Amino acid sequence: MLPDLKRSLLCVGASFSILTQAAPSAYESCKCAPTDPCWPSASEWVAFNKTVSGRLIKTVPVAAPCYKGPYYNAAACADIEARWSDSVFQSQFPIGYSYPITQSCDIPGGNTTTCTVGQDPPYAINASSTAHVVAGIHYAADKNLRLAIKMTGHDLIGRSTGYGSLEIWIAHLRNGITFEKTYQPSTSCKANHWTGAAINVGGGYNWSAVYKVAQTNNVIVVGGGCPDVGVLGGYTQGGGHSLAMHQFGPAADQLLEARVILANGQQVVASPCQHSDLFTALRGGGGGTYGIIISGKIKAYPETSIIGQSLTLAPKSLDHLADFMAAVRIIYEALPSLQDGGLSGYGSWTAYSPTPFIGNSTAGLTYSMGAFGKTKSQVQSLFAPTQAKLAQCNHTTDLFVNYTAYESYFDYYFATNGINSAAESSSALVSRLLTKESLSNSSGLARMLNITAGQPEEFTFNEIGAVGGGAVLSTPDPYSGINPAWRQTYVMNIVARGYLDTTNYTTAQAIHHDITYVKGRAMTALAPNTGSYMNEGDYQDPNYLKNYYGNALPQLRAAKAKYDPNGTFYCPTCVGSDQWEQQPSGKLCRL
Ligand SMILES: Cc1cc2nc3c(=O)[nH]c(=O)nc-3n(C[C@H](O)[C@H](O)[C@H](O)COP(=O)(O)OP(=O)(O)OC[C@H]3O[C@@H](n4cnc5c(N)ncnc54)[C@H](O)[C@@H]3O)c2cc1C
Ligand SMILES: *[C@@H]1O[C@H](CO)[C@@H](O)[C@H](O)[C@H]1NC(C)=O
Ligand SMILES: *[C@@H]1O[C@H](CO)[C@@H](O)[C@H](O)[C@H]1NC(C)=O
Ligand SMILES: *[C@@H]1O[C@H](CO)[C@@H](O)[C@H](O)[C@H]1NC(C)=O
Ligand SMILES: *[C@@H]1O[C@H](CO)[C@@H](O)[C@H](O)[C@H]1NC(C)=O
Ligand SMILES: *[C@@H]1O[C@H](CO)[C@@H](O)[C@H](O)[C@H]1NC(C)=O
Ligand SMILES: *[C@@H]1O[C@H](CO)[C@@H](O)[C@H](O)[C@H]1NC(C)=O
Ligand SMILES: *[C@@H]1O[C@H](CO)[C@@H](O)[C@H](O)[C@H]1NC(C)=O
Ligand SMILES: *[C@@H]1O[C@H](CO)[C@@H](O)[C@H](O)[C@H]1NC(C)=O
Ligand SMILES: *[C@@H]1O[C@H](CO)[C@@H](O)[C@H](O)[C@H]1NC(C)=O
Ligand SMILES: *[C@@H]1O[C@H](CO)[C@@H](O)[C@H](O)[C@H]1NC(C)=O
Ligand SMILES: *[C@@H]1O[C@H](CO)[C@@H](O)[C@H](O)[C@H]1NC(C)=O
Repeated sequence: MLPDLKRSLLCVGASFSILTQAAPSAYESCKCAPTDPCWPSASEWVAFNKTVSGRLIKTVPVAAPCYKGPYYNAAACADIEARWSDSVFQSQFPIGYSYPITQSCDIPGGNTTTCTVGQDPPYAINASSTAHVVAGIHYAADKNLRLAIKMTGHDLIGRSTGYGSLEIWIAHLRNGITFEKTYQPSTSCKANHWTGAAINVGGGYNWSAVYKVAQTNNVIVVGGGCPDVGVLGGYTQGGGHSLAMHQFGPAADQLLEARVILANGQQVVASPCQHSDLFTALRGGGGGTYGIIISGKIKAYPETSIIGQSLTLAPKSLDHLADFMAAVRIIYEALPSLQDGGLSGYGSWTAYSPTPFIGNSTAGLTYSMGAFGKTKSQVQSLFAPTQAKLAQCNHTTDLFVNYTAYESYFDYYFATNGINSAAESSSALVSRLLTKESLSNSSGLARMLNITAGQPEEFTFNEIGAVGGGAVLSTPDPYSGINPAWRQTYVMNIVARGYLDTTNYTTAQAIHHDITYVKGRAMTALAPNTGSYMNEGDYQDPNYLKNYYGNALPQLRAAKAKYDPNGTFYCPTCVGSDQWEQQPSGKLCRL
């Protein structure tokens, strides 16, 4: 089974001394694990279940029906096998994940022979009201339990799960999605000066649900390439790139205000007028860290026509791989000026695909871009210099370029993106933010592409997120928590490798090592002073604090210390996580 990498990626220290005196109970050195005497008894769970209206779930792995035992069911198992790699399918389960980092209950033929909950939460609250969220936070704090917050479970680096944790699952917290022709600040806060339209997202919705409301009201929102990604969770809080990002900035910039349940159970509005430090942290400082967002308002923009440009490039035969690689470099070099001229979008390429990629060629590049509010001839002249450069290789490489006029953003979105993607448990990836300056370093770029292309026997893909430049470069207001390196970014490049053999742990480890120390390093050499995109990051990145948060880290740490001083919220690589260590058993302990 070859993972569909192309698809899956496109849409791919505070001081404790004062607090220790005030709150010794909150400073247990480890979170209470299921094997510890402090773990709630069966009768305590029953009592807790009553405080959440009977919505407590003792979790069962998605693939449990495939294993001998009380859940065994051959027909159900066949269905699970067929839909295993469907991220929408996985998101329906309290412990279903698109990119499970550890797999303790694989489908038959996979990595496991037994089925356990493993590193995933043994209990989940299927929250449908704010009260359930508050009850979960209080219970975790009182019992010193690890907490996991999950919306869709799409996270690539394991931030919505955790060993021995109580999960607050907010996908069923649904209080409606409403359109505001003119944004109505819920606390008469005018400080963000937004006079346009807004959409109020009242809970744990995915983009699919919000796009419906946007389409009905003829507006554009900055949302995920795949509609199954959550709106207000990790996506927006981690930055959020989009087909509309070049035009309007990252998703994090679109958040006008949010209702948040804090670690102390209090509900607050975070906006430029209230808790502006929290507001800043939520706009790019990472999900699952500062509080739980239960609703939020995002900017909406008037619809516009779009000229789409799609391109494919492939060597006429594999003897011409060098010319193909030269053409790939020409395209990367052109991306900053193409984006300055209004074109942006996503692409992917490979030098050594295990299956044909473009036509019968196992090497190829394809991209799909669009220019908002332009004419076809404007886009053609914008592309003409690049087309001329590429034509110099036309005896050895095939280039096809098409232009399509779309009446609206959503016509363009659904024609070129908008496909739900495969869930992907068997790949490793790393991303890097590339600036205009780095993309103009011709020899450095050639060196990088040579390494990120990988080796013939590998299964390496590059994803081109040419969705920077434009509005991404300017900070629209002082309340931005994203890695400031984004403000110089034109291309977010991802290198991914599939495992091919999903059952060989040694091979998987070697692939991860190569991604971190060979492929990732090659991109870092080209753009040493930027960072990577945390939502599409390498979960083993030894330098994740610098790469994910950059110069935003001090203010994010300050917000963490202020709003969650006891460490009630924890997720791996999240701000504050460096004060904890996960032991081999899975148990989480303070450093
Ligand atoms: C198929 C697929 C397509 C993708 N496409 C894109 C894309 O087009 N653009 C892009 O930028 N990224 C994309 N991503 C990456 C995506 O941004 C991350 O996976 C992101 O973490 C998903 O957020 P989520 O809330 O849906 O997922 P979850 O795994 O449920 O949560 C992710 C993180 O957010 C936290 N969280 C969730 N809800 C809340 C909340 N309400 N309050 C506080 N914290 C919360 C969780 O604790 C966790 O830390 C894609 C991923 C997949 C699997
Ligand atoms: C919680 O209560 C509901 C309703 O009584 C029940 O269906 C569910 O199984 C209980 N959950 C747990 C973990 O016991
Ligand atoms: C595969 O299984 C081994 C143990 O059998 C485990 O250590 C490893 O983490 C698993 N790999 C993945 C990717 O889940
Ligand atoms: C969660 O609750 C919703 C209703 O809010 C329900 O439709 C769904 O089936 C529940 N999921 C599970 C796994 O209990
Ligand atoms: C989005 O969420 C809705 C529930 O609000 C669900 O029915 C639907 O399957 C999800 N769609 C996608 C594309 O994930
Ligand atoms: C931290 O823990 C102490 C002691 O349990 C508690 O009084 C305090 O409210 C907690 N603070 C937060 C923000 O959770
Ligand atoms: C261009 O359009 C033709 C006809 O619709 C199609 O067959 C071809 O795949 C397209 N090429 C690209 C690069 O999109
Ligand atoms: C694709 O097939 C054609 C003819 O069938 C052949 O000439 C060409 O070399 C092949 N291309 C590659 C990259 O294998
Ligand atoms: C290759 O490009 C040249 C211009 O550089 C053009 O004259 C020629 O027609 C092109 N050939 C093909 C096969 O497209
Ligand atoms: C170009 O990239 C290389 C890394 O391959 C780097 O060593 C060099 O300093 C870069 N040149 C410039 C001018 O930035
Ligand atoms: C990378 O460079 C090496 C050494 O020049 C060369 O043998 C190899 O073919 C290159 N790989 C690609 C994909 O261009
Ligand atoms: C896993 O792959 C390695 C080489 O990468 C090989 O040495 C080892 O025998 C394989 N293990 C299994 C169980 O196939």
